Amino acid sequence: MQQAATTYNDKVVRQFAVMTVVWGIVGMLVGVVIAAQLYWPDLTHGIEWLGYGRLRPLHTNAVIFAFGGCALMATSLHVVQRTCHVRLLSDRLAAFVFWGWQAVIVAAAVTLPLGWTQGKEYAELEWPIDILIAVVWVAYAVLFLGTIAVRRVRHIYVANWFYASFIIAVALLHIVNNISMPVAAGKSYSIYTGAVDAMVQWWYGHNAVGFFLTAGFLGMMYYFVPKQAGRPVYSYRLSIVHFWALIAVYMWAGPHHLQYTALPDWAQSLGMVFSLILLAPSWGGAINGIMTLSGVWHKLRTDPILKFLIVAISFYMIATFEGPMMSIKTVNSLSHYTDWTVGHVHAGALGWVAMISIGSIYALLPRLLGLREMYSTKWIDLHFWLHTIGVVLYIASMWIAGVMQGLMWRATNDDGTLTYSFVEALNATYPYYLVRLLGGVVVLSGMFLMAFNVWKTYRAGQAVAADQPVLEPDPSQSLAPLAQARAGAQA
Ligand code: HEM
Ligand code: HEM
Repeated sequence: MQQAATTYNDKVVRQFAVMTVVWGIVGMLVGVVIAAQLYWPDLTHGIEWLGYGRLRPLHTNAVIFAFGGCALMATSLHVVQRTCHVRLLSDRLAAFVFWGWQAVIVAAAVTLPLGWTQGKEYAELEWPIDILIAVVWVAYAVLFLGTIAVRRVRHIYVANWFYASFIIAVALLHIVNNISMPVAAGKSYSIYTGAVDAMVQWWYGHNAVGFFLTAGFLGMMYYFVPKQAGRPVYSYRLSIVHFWALIAVYMWAGPHHLQYTALPDWAQSLGMVFSLILLAPSWGGAINGIMTLSGVWHKLRTDPILKFLIVAISFYMIATFEGPMMSIKTVNSLSHYTDWTVGHVHAGALGWVAMISIGSIYALLPRLLGLREMYSTKWIDLHFWLHTIGVVLYIASMWIAGVMQGLMWRATNDDGTLTYSFVEALNATYPYYLVRLLGGVVVLSGMFLMAFNVWKTYRAGQAVAADQPVLEPDPSQSLAPLAQARAGAQA
């Protein structure tokens, strides 16, 4: 074992980690504002750029691409260095990816309130920003995959497989779905039309869920859960099966967003069948994550970071059970257009995505600052409870409201007329919108607490100005040898 002069590029990881917290607060604050607008529709009356229609895409873009994106970039660039025992391929490329991604976010934050939009959900941004995204994303791909290519260990740890699939799939989805004809700086028309446009859009939309909101975060799970628990992955072999099963199945499930539309019936059924199949690998992977705690369950009592990670996986199981059920055509006829979908989304987004990101950032940040732990573990615990209570308030209220709306809309009298007018259903929904708003405020207050904790941690740490030298290779940094040994033991 030789001492190498290699250092890791922790600067870019720190930058992305801090921006995860910043954009998390911004995105969730906008979420709280639109939740308030749904309760008080006149809240921002007359101010065009603060209208619900402008702020809603700002919320979704901010939480998914800014908050989620920064969390994915921070963790992937950390994990790839530590598990490949090598510094990032290029520091300049890393800086370009960081600043380029922040430029994309700022451009989105300016143009969406101005009403510049392609009108495609999760792909609202207009063509000049789309081109910038493509350039930054390709740079990110070169940085990540190039670092794997120059790795010092033979094995590619499974977390990197998940991150790599997320990076490659998102490049493909983004480019194909955004092919359009520009007519002005802020206006373009998609080259797809009619049912084909819808199909391409939801092939994109669903795989944005599958790869942006799932595969990348599973990469996080496979690194940070074993690391925090101090145990190897429960079954390394299952993690490989999990990976290939998800890759094989996700791409075909998109039509479940288009049940009972002009899409050919066979395509709708195909989407439903593949969604049902998806339950198996999703739960298999989640169980693999949770069972990694075998033998150290007691740590859940004392380690709030582990609580964040494990409860995140539980919400993942909820969302991936509910999703396949909602894709069944008869169930979808009740759930579609209702707040049930919004509840499902936030079980995945606030439960799974946000909690696994928050837990991972808490685990990561002190290490990057040369500290053993965050400034206050008590505050992390408080944050955990605030977040969990907020999410439960959010999703439970939306589930009840959603099922109620679906049942009220379809109720008919003996003579065939509708039992309830739309306004009656809306009226019945109001109290639940207030509960959702409360849930959002509680979640947001937890995020502010996190920001304060991060700030204090930064001040407490001897802010490591230069990168830290490391022993190379350092087996304690990599979980792969442990996991491989375990896989071998099981063979
Ligand atoms: C404080 C936390 C949050 C609050 C209060 C909040 C609130 C909202 C509201 C009010 C909507 C609009 C629902 C509608 O149109 O009926 C929405 C939509 C959405 N939010 Fe959030 N949100 C929060 C956090 C998040 C996070 C962290 C994510 C993702 C990581 C997320 C992803 C989404 C998505 C994808 C939609 C669109 C749902 C759909 O089209 O069905 N939200 N959110
Ligand atoms: C096995 C996994 C999953 C399946 C089969 C699935 C299925 C579904 C179905 C059937 C819908 C409703 C479509 C509609 O009626 O319009 C939906 C909506 C949605 N799901 Fe899932 N889901 C899964 C997991 C997840 C996860 C883990 C997340 C988040 C992290 C998520 C995020 C979303 C979003 C954002 C939407 C709303 C899309 C929109 O209309 O804007 N899903 N999903």
